Amino acid sequence: MFAPKDLLARNKTWAGKISENNPRFFAELADQQTPKFMWIGCSDSRVPANQIVNLPPGEIFVHRNVANIFNAGDLNALATLQFSVDVLKVEHIIVCGHYGCGGVLAALRGDRHGLVDHWLRQVQIIRDQHEDELADLEGEPARHQRLCELNVASQVRHVAESYVVRDAWERGQSLSVHGWVYSLHDGILRDLGVSVNP
Ligand code: CO
Repeated sequence: MFAPKDLLARNKTWAGKISENNPRFFAELADQQTPKFMWIGCSDSRVPANQIVNLPPGEIFVHRNVANIFNAGDLNALATLQFSVDVLKVEHIIVCGHYGCGGVLAALRGDRHGLVDHWLRQVQIIRDQHEDELADLEGEPARHQRLCELNVASQVRHVAESYVVRDAWERGQSLSVHGWVYSLHDGILRDLGVSVNP
């Protein structure tokens, strides 16, 4: 188990190694960020955006919440999207879900965990929209896996339908929205083939 002081020590080692490789790394990043990617992912500790695509700081603008949900009524997600599209001019927005998502499982089962139930209602609505498809699958693990995918596809649509993205496309800005899912078992990302382009 790590204590907070261990994290500070690990940070020093990490920063030292990067500076050793490239003494200008932090100075250059401090001047500006020019990420080409925005990431909408789950808060799950096992799905850290930069690490799983092997990219250093400065490459991905990240928004994470329980079950990688995007809706146009969420001021936090909306502000992050607007800033990354209008100001940073990212070219790709990646909605990344993951198999084994506890939030999606709670929504599938209708489990009660408190305040988070209200948040996960959004995934339950997707579950109910695909009731027949899910019912045809054999066993809860298969339904869970499929709902993880359906949730990503649905959030991709929400992002693509947002006025931030629609306005960017109307201006002719280069911008695509992608839906990926990550497997905790092998560390591999899969493209769900639900990308939306202008
Ligand atoms: Co999750």
